[in-house]
Amino acid sequence: MAIERTLSIIKPDATRRNLTGQINARLEEAGLSFVAQKRVRLTPEQAEAFYDVHKERAFFEDLCNFMITGPVVVQVLEGEDAIAKNREIMGATNPANADAGTIRKDFAESIEANSVHGSDAPDTAAREIAFFFSELELVG
Ligand code: RTP
Ligand code: MG
Repeated sequence: MAIERTLSIIKPDATRRNLTGQINARLEEAGLSFVAQKRVRLTPEQAEAFYDVHKERAFFEDLCNFMITGPVVVQVLEGEDAIAKNREIMGATNPANADAGTIRKDFAESIEANSVHGSDAPDTAAREIAFFFSELELVG
């Protein structure tokens, strides 16, 4: 295990329902720390660029449209095994399949409006962090 950084996003369904604090409390309680955080409204171009890896998927257009329906909070988490730990706390993509006590089980509205994003590997974490933040904005 090692100290890692990962990109987390509080998605529009969660910001709309004022769940940012409750979700972030769970991440902090699990031992993850915030090293960067900002609230942004994605443009269609930014949403498409961020999710470029999914551009061939059937859900791509719907996902990009959803991600611009309201503000999101983009944030960088740091901690032991942060990438896997964050995804464990998030739960499965589809809330119907998510374990009890996970963020998506407790808060997600649907497979699409599933409240949070988390990077899935070290290379995607590095790309996604650099998409939103400069080195100077990462304050450990
Ligand atoms: P994320 O990237 O947001 O952390 O979620 P994930 O790894 O669990 O899921 P991924 O396969 O990367 O999909 C990215 C996001 O696309 C939406 N989605 N919709 N309608 C659908 O079948 C469908 N499948 C995925 C979700 O918002 C998912 O988190
Ligand atoms: Mg993903």
